[in-house]
Amino acid sequence: MAVSSTLSRLNLLPRPSLPNPLTILGPVNPRWRPKIRPMWAPLNSSSNSFSAHFSTPQNSNSIFPNLHTQIPGPDDDLVVLGIETSCDDTAAAVVRSSGEILSQVVSSQADLLARYGGVAPKMAEEAHSRVIDQVIQEALDKANVSETDLSAVAVTIGPGLSLCLRVGVRKARRIASSFNLPMVGIHHMEAHALVARLIERQLRFPFMALLISGGHNLLILAQDLGQYIQLGTTIDDAIGEAYDKTAKWLGLDMRRSGGPAIEELAREGDAESIKFSIPMKQHKDCNFSYAGLKTQVRLAIESRKINAEIPISCASSQDRSSRADIAASFQRVAVLHLEERCERAIEWALNIEPSIKHLVVSGGVASNEYVRARLGHVVKKHSLQLVCPPPSLCTDNGVMVAWTGIEHFRMGRFDPPPPADEPEDLMYDLRPRWPLGEEYAEGRSEARSLRRARIHPSLTSIIQASLQQRK
Ligand code: KG4
Ligand code: ZN
Repeated sequence: MAVSSTLSRLNLLPRPSLPNPLTILGPVNPRWRPKIRPMWAPLNSSSNSFSAHFSTPQNSNSIFPNLHTQIPGPDDDLVVLGIETSCDDTAAAVVRSSGEILSQVVSSQADLLARYGGVAPKMAEEAHSRVIDQVIQEALDKANVSETDLSAVAVTIGPGLSLCLRVGVRKARRIASSFNLPMVGIHHMEAHALVARLIERQLRFPFMALLISGGHNLLILAQDLGQYIQLGTTIDDAIGEAYDKTAKWLGLDMRRSGGPAIEELAREGDAESIKFSIPMKQHKDCNFSYAGLKTQVRLAIESRKINAEIPISCASSQDRSSRADIAASFQRVAVLHLEERCERAIEWALNIEPSIKHLVVSGGVASNEYVRARLGHVVKKHSLQLVCPPPSLCTDNGVMVAWTGIEHFRMGRFDPPPPADEPEDLMYDLRPRWPLGEEYAEGRSEARSLRRARIHPSLTSIIQASLQQRK
């Protein structure tokens, strides 16, 4: 999809606003106003007490010129519901713009993961649909708020599995429509990065981020909100996928996903016992590859005649120790690959932005203590600070979505509430394959073989194009 066609559907607001990644459908009620409570308002007396705190744009080039849009100021107290269904966790949270997490609820599909050894999209969609209402209700109840107390609803619109994203977006639109709330469409990987600003309030742009999850391996330079340079990405699999497959082939208990199982077993093993080779040593760039390491691990498992049908809990002590050696050796090399790429990325990033002080490490794999410790040494060498969200905010969660919603909402990027009569079978603007930033030209690898078909323009390119248009 071309940037221009995407832009034509965006609600471009006149302040330093960002383009709106959610499709705006149907007529907009010109009387609609986003709800924002002044800082002093108690949570349950919010409904009509906010209008004096809006800043009103001077000139409007909005595609909704009648919408006298008002944008929250930095001191407005926002309460945002975040909804996340991009993969196998159904998550919701309520977060205040002060950074207070009012609630966090995650329903994981670990049993499905264990049964199928991976995420099966149709099953995952059904599982999301089964629990989404309950997860959101629980998040509101735990936060002691009702929908009328909310300032906005934020929801992940990509990247991820379309079938799964759709469940979250449909629910978010229903709530937003019923309670007249603005909506913010969220990039899942941006949310992984920005949640670090919720826990470390000193974290200012520019900073670096290594985002490591089941589907993504990204090294980015975050220059500003919505402005990212992609220093490196994976040319095949992400590190989390390699953890999950290794765990499956070793017959580990997948109910908490493969990563934690490998981390635990690796503590018993000898990490030097098997000399797996470090991926992409000959490529002096910041891209990643984990497919080859997976193959090396599979061959090692086969040659040791390890039978994944026998769960680790039933294995003999010799078999267990052999599996632990593989887990530890795999983990050592998988993380060495991260370390090596981070070293180079830090040099590149400091060349572009010498003021960088922080490396954020986030995404599910960042909850691993070994990963944190090793990357801690890397940043220390370069006098940077490591920022790792707590494990519950590294794995998929609603807090990161709500917080990223708050960050963008404050900048004026949001959709008005959807119309009440939205049809059930509406095609939403979902972005299953959606790059976060533009590729760093000097860092482009000849080894890259990314499938580029049907990728949305990156979040950053959409934002830059909208800013250009407004000049
Ligand atoms: O960010 P995330 O929750 O979901 C995606 O966006 O993919 O990441 C999930 C991935 C899974 O591959 C899981 O095995 C991995 O994060 N993971 C870990 C650990 N906890 C979760 N990997 C290594 N060590 C861990 N402790
Ligand atoms: Zn994730």
